[in-house]
Amino acid sequence: MTRLPPPASFLALSTARPATPPAARERRLVVVSNRVAMADPGGKAAGGLAVGILAALKRSGGIWFGWSGAVTPAPPAAADVVHGDDITFATLALARRDYEQYYNGFANRVLWPLFHYRPGLIDYKREDFAGYLRVNRQFAQHLAPLLSPDDIIWVHDYHLMPLADELRRLGIEQPIGFFLHTPFPVTEILRVLPSHAALMRAMCAYDLVGFQTENDVWGFRDYLLRCAGGRAEGIDGISAFGRQLRAAVFPIGIDVDAIALQAAQSVDSRQMRRLQESLRQRRLIIGVDRLDYSKGLLQRFRAFERLIEMFPERRGHVTLMQIAPPTRSEVPEYSQIRRSLETAAGHINGRFAEFDWMPVRYLNKSFNHRTLCGFLRAAGVGLVTPLRDGMNLVAKEYVAAQDPTDPGVLVLSCFAGAARELGDALIVNPYDIDGVAEAIQEALMMPREERVERWQAMMAVMRRNDIAAWRDSFTAALADAAAGR
Ligand code: F6P
Repeated sequence: MTRLPPPASFLALSTARPATPPAARERRLVVVSNRVAMADPGGKAAGGLAVGILAALKRSGGIWFGWSGAVTPAPPAAADVVHGDDITFATLALARRDYEQYYNGFANRVLWPLFHYRPGLIDYKREDFAGYLRVNRQFAQHLAPLLSPDDIIWVHDYHLMPLADELRRLGIEQPIGFFLHTPFPVTEILRVLPSHAALMRAMCAYDLVGFQTENDVWGFRDYLLRCAGGRAEGIDGISAFGRQLRAAVFPIGIDVDAIALQAAQSVDSRQMRRLQESLRQRRLIIGVDRLDYSKGLLQRFRAFERLIEMFPERRGHVTLMQIAPPTRSEVPEYSQIRRSLETAAGHINGRFAEFDWMPVRYLNKSFNHRTLCGFLRAAGVGLVTPLRDGMNLVAKEYVAAQDPTDPGVLVLSCFAGAARELGDALIVNPYDIDGVAEAIQEALMMPREERVERWQAMMAVMRRNDIAAWRDSFTAALADAAAGR
């Protein structure tokens, strides 16, 4: 377990960014993402992307365009437009075939596993790639009429990598930026994708491409420079496929004070009282993740099992509560991981449970955000141990939710983007089961003074790089990049 200092380039990025120039502030922000938080009542199973965008748009106002979450027999004739207080939501349904090929197929059975370094899990079909391009074209066709000349367009995540290319074909000249919430792989992994050249060529239609960490930018630049005949221009500029763009790091943050407030307010809630009563003074270890094979949940369960094997004094005195709402359940790999986790949780409980102690509480359900923040605050240890993750906002939320006078300890995978900023967590390799078990033990034993010191250091970084800083630095850089063009 090592403390990682934030990388030098990140410090430079977080302190040296200019304030948002008026050019970016005056423009209306148009956000495009596959998932729109409004389409997910209560935001219960929302991933980091939806939570992050909602917080960013709430402050600035603008349009949020994306999939409505509905699947219909035929493609929709028009987008549904709903005007909220600050945000206008424009959503499109997906036809069944589009949903299968674009979302279940190319996005979640090819790009997702590939970008999470699991090429063995990909299932590439040419017709799925065609469906992916078709849906991106539909999005562009329905979005274009909603745009004004002064808009700045910010596209999010792997579902919509070719969107700028489709918009440019329709004559859209406004600044268009892209932010990837997932990791971006190294070139040799990207080359596994049969359509890598077409995808990367389309990405060059953006003015600015943003990533969570330096690793991701390096992968992107390396491909363009070595495999696409691209040329480096200045610090973060590249010209490739006849276009110029910039690629840089913008680590996503959270609304630190909002999370801290929600967590503090939930202390007296009915759910929290029920949780505390059920724990009967036992130490709580918590994990909160979408049920996804990238989250390292099987390895996490094994590490918890090793903890109670290696440190028998923990038996009867700790509880692991793993909250894992199912997602993408029509993708076969997700049903498989779900079955494996049920077996693993049952195995640990069958092996160690007593008539008055259940070691693992495994919950395939979601909770509202306020309740979740309360749960995070109640846990002395937060386990965030993905095998690979773009950022992982649960890691940041766990820290923000803590009681400042008696904070818990974050055990964090070195393969989560958050590890670049949260070097004061206990950093672990999730594949090292004994190492994770030892880190949990260290977290449980850590004196209050050290916990407070680590927590304060992480809070300082998170406050500096919060959600507003993320939005402002990206939109300012986008306006700048487009002006250069
Ligand atoms: O951040 C990765 C991501 O795919 C987001 O795009 C999305 O909001 C979240 O995970 C949840 O996944 P899905 O939209 O497939 O349910």
